[in-house]
Amino acid sequence: MSNQLEKVQELIALRNEARLGGGEKAIQKQHERGKYTARERIAQLLDEGSFEEIDMFVRHRCHNFGQEKKSFLGDGVVTGYGTIDGRLVYVFAQDFTVFGGSLSETMALKICKIMDMAMKMGAPVIGLNDSGGARIQEGINALAGYAEIFQRNILASGVIPQISAILGPCAGGAVYSPALTDFTIMTKGISYMFLTGPKVVKTVTGEDVTQDALGGAEVHSTKSGVAHFAAEDGEDCLKIIRKLFSYIPQNNLEDPPLVECNDPIDRLEDSLNDIIPDSPNRPYDMYEVIGAIIDNGEFLEVQRNYAKNLIVGFARFNGQAVGIVANQPKFLAGVLDSNASRKGARFVRFCDAFNIPLVTLVDVPGFLPGTGQEYNGVILHGAKLLYAYGEATVPKVTVTLRKSYGGSHIVMSCKQLRGDMNYAWPTAEIAVMGGAGAVEVLYAREAKAAEDPQAVLKEKESEYNKLFCNPYNAARYGYIDDVIEPRNTRFRVIRALQQLATKKLTNPAKKHGNIPL
Ligand code: HXC
Repeated sequence: MSNQLEKVQELIALRNEARLGGGEKAIQKQHERGKYTARERIAQLLDEGSFEEIDMFVRHRCHNFGQEKKSFLGDGVVTGYGTIDGRLVYVFAQDFTVFGGSLSETMALKICKIMDMAMKMGAPVIGLNDSGGARIQEGINALAGYAEIFQRNILASGVIPQISAILGPCAGGAVYSPALTDFTIMTKGISYMFLTGPKVVKTVTGEDVTQDALGGAEVHSTKSGVAHFAAEDGEDCLKIIRKLFSYIPQNNLEDPPLVECNDPIDRLEDSLNDIIPDSPNRPYDMYEVIGAIIDNGEFLEVQRNYAKNLIVGFARFNGQAVGIVANQPKFLAGVLDSNASRKGARFVRFCDAFNIPLVTLVDVPGFLPGTGQEYNGVILHGAKLLYAYGEATVPKVTVTLRKSYGGSHIVMSCKQLRGDMNYAWPTAEIAVMGGAGAVEVLYAREAKAAEDPQAVLKEKESEYNKLFCNPYNAARYGYIDDVIEPRNTRFRVIRALQQLATKKLTNPAKKHGNIPL
């Protein structure tokens, strides 16, 4: 065998060794835990055969605790680039078979390298997290590595999309990298995220709690809002990423991909002319409205089980990706509260950062009153949503279906927050407050003095409703651009979006705003 052939053989052997990560036994253990390996995950995520790995020969440099005797090619993370539906993405996948996927100085360098490449090329970064946290043997160097990653997450925010899949442990300060990215997808049964684990919780607070109850996918997708999606398993998690990716552009200078649309744009949806119940206190299901107006009823909902009173997610109109924000009358009467405001604000800001038009469907009775909300800072949280809409320069189309009262009317993408096309159904009620509440304030004294207080209040309420609880009062001032037939909503929204395709609007130059955090 020639010298060169020998060297090629050596390369092939090294590559094969690297592909085994922490070794066959560790891979078997990973499978027994119900988890795929880093390379298996990348293969599931990317287009077949598209992955190009880099830094396969990197090894850690640590000499503490005899670490120099134990090292693996690649050092616990697989990094590189490939495509999803033919579009370039950068990927890192932590390899739990090597030191539990724990983060070393060199692992951080590998991750930072692909983040820097993604920024240079203007392509998204997808992180597949499965790690025991900072590599304990490396001490401060591991911490420094985390900080380098966080810094890059921050600078990349709003420039390239960043997506985090949690496919195993993610604890301690490590949770901050996913938290800084745009979307976090957790996986039921195998993933958890928390700052301090159950043992420390027990020591500090005396509370007995399991890993799952403290920071599992269920908890973070329903209670904390940390996770945007809860996947059924590892494969489902990667499928969600591919789907999500189809709605978002490569970077902040590009538009989302346009998809061919086979759903007629002028499809009339007769059911919408009869969906609003006669009683203002009876709910209907906003999902039915969304499903009826978007392309083929296909909706990718974000944070489905968190703050269900506000629905947010991605859909398409005539093939163009949009972000939908809609009050849900079926849950808490569609009221806005702290959690719904935070959820909506973050989604609106993502869409605005990445040139995704916003379609807002309004049926909101107001903000949830009470000490629970006020002590929790609903003023600041509500202001986040207000700020997000007011700051957004993407095309904004708003349709008011029924209630739109007071502060919540303003917050939900009203005309004065630079709403581009604001439509209303004939059933819309756009006013300072609902009729019953308004007459209680205005006519309490008259009612008290009257023989039949209820009759007085009823008469005044009907007068108030006639004057204010309709769309025409707002339309009279141009605050509503048109009152539309509900069944024709799809067509009117598509027309509006087509018109707004060339919209140009910029905010005043500044270092950055001071959103009420
Ligand atoms: C070095 C680690 C490690 C770590 C796991 N391993 N975590 N090595 N540093 N942080 C190693 C284990 O020693 C073991 O090596 C292998 O990975 C697999 O781990 P197991 O414990 O056998 O797996 P499992 O039973 O599934 O438990 C997984 C685990 C547990 C829950 C993650 O390993 C664990 O609790 N690890 C420590 C977590 C932690 O406290 N990390 C530091 C957090 S503080 P062998 O050789 O036996 O196969 C932090 C600060 C970050 O991260 C701050 C950023 C700003």
